[in-house]
Amino acid sequence: MEKIGRTKIIDLLKREDFGATVNVKGWVRTRRGSKQVNFIALNDGSTINNVQIVVDLANFNEDLLKLITTGACLSVNGVMVESVGSGQKVEIQAREIDVLGTCDNTYPLQKKGHSMEFLREIAHLRPRTNTFGAVFRIRHNMAIAIHKFFHDRGFFYFHTPIITASDCEGAGQMFQVTTMNLYDLKKNEAGSIVYDNDFFGKQASLTVSGQLEGELAATALGAIYTFGPTFRAENSNTPRHLAEFWMIEPEVAFNDIADNMDLAEEFIKYCVQWALDNCADDVKFLNDMFDKGLIERLLGVLKEDFVRLAYTDGIKILEEAVAKGHKFEFPVYWGVDLASEHERYLVEEHFKRPVILTDYPKEIKAFYMKQNEDGKTVRAMDVLFPKIGEIIGGSEREADYEKLLARIKELGIPMKDMWWYLDTRKFGSCPHSGFGLGFERLLLFVTGMSNIRDVIPFPRTPKNAEF
Ligand code: 4AD
Ligand code: MG
Repeated sequence: MEKIGRTKIIDLLKREDFGATVNVKGWVRTRRGSKQVNFIALNDGSTINNVQIVVDLANFNEDLLKLITTGACLSVNGVMVESVGSGQKVEIQAREIDVLGTCDNTYPLQKKGHSMEFLREIAHLRPRTNTFGAVFRIRHNMAIAIHKFFHDRGFFYFHTPIITASDCEGAGQMFQVTTMNLYDLKKNEAGSIVYDNDFFGKQASLTVSGQLEGELAATALGAIYTFGPTFRAENSNTPRHLAEFWMIEPEVAFNDIADNMDLAEEFIKYCVQWALDNCADDVKFLNDMFDKGLIERLLGVLKEDFVRLAYTDGIKILEEAVAKGHKFEFPVYWGVDLASEHERYLVEEHFKRPVILTDYPKEIKAFYMKQNEDGKTVRAMDVLFPKIGEIIGGSEREADYEKLLARIKELGIPMKDMWWYLDTRKFGSCPHSGFGLGFERLLLFVTGMSNIRDVIPFPRTPKNAEF
């Protein structure tokens, strides 16, 4: 076969130099036609759109034609011609076809219309479907948007450790990291495991958040963000929880809670706008195929200011709803950790736009949040979104050494894990704030997918670590 430089399908479909000889490589999506001429829809992943290859059967050997089946990988040399029937401006009149990889009829993606559940069982192949191609191209674009947003505003990308000895959120939901022989654990007289001889000489885990180390950096570099995987061993089998997910955590010196809210709102709107501007074909596909309200919802978020509301006022609204006969599965009272149904009621039914809920009871929030004068609440903020519920969690941080120390002791957090964190408050402490955006929750919003397992290539959830 003649060697011609490959053109990606995304670029080819924009060309207008009809008559040019080109090469494309990709996977067969469908093949149809008559005894004289066949039409192959070829996709190479660069775009959701396929290019149509027109094959004049008389020009090709029968043995070769037999190998052109759904899923097979082809290299095609041909002439670019203007198309009338393919849904695209361009199609290729095939001159030479090389079958790079055959695909027999055990290929599970022969037919269209598989359920999301089935596709999760073949997560190694699902990127070849239109839907997952779209989702993973959007995922890439969102990562780029995030780096660009922060870089353009003078934030530094700071790498926090994945293996850690401290529990940032204090929720005890950590996966342990050990090289000890689990069949022969050394214990002390009290029956506790002795970690002296373990790899790190102490108990270590996978991080639940890069925030604590992020704060160290923010109080030196001024404004930083992290963007990495985080791990939570919470046994929640919900459409919004993963055991391994990616989090973006900006942290900014001298920002108070109002600045933090402004940053969160600007950041999310930037990401949504980026998806509309840079992933138009994929977003439109997902809108048309899965979620007819998707584009409207994305535009809606851009248009409106987010509501800013104290937790206490949020509870009042929910209590009034209950009094008027609205049924929630979980009870509503001051002090309760809001369930997703409560969050979504505020966003979708009451305000009909995103809500930033602030000043939560300290008992349901982490130790590092700045304590309010009332002694009961902390300067926390959760950004609540339509269809998602909590998409961001953050706070102004407690900058006062004595108050932070008192809270750490009150909660029984071991000092041996926290001395270095407390040093930031001892040496030139400053007001500072930050938040964490769940990357997959953002992707749920932007793609309109309804299960978080479908916006990460290889989901890790309770009882599932396949692939
Ligand atoms: O609210 P969270 O637990 O806050 C923190 O971890 C803080 N350290 C962030 C900070 O202030 N720097 O988690 C932040 C976000 C949530 O709002 C949610 O979007 C996402 O992370 N998240 C999860 N996403 C998927 N699966 C899970 N199990 C998640 N847990 C939290
Ligand atoms: Mg939270």
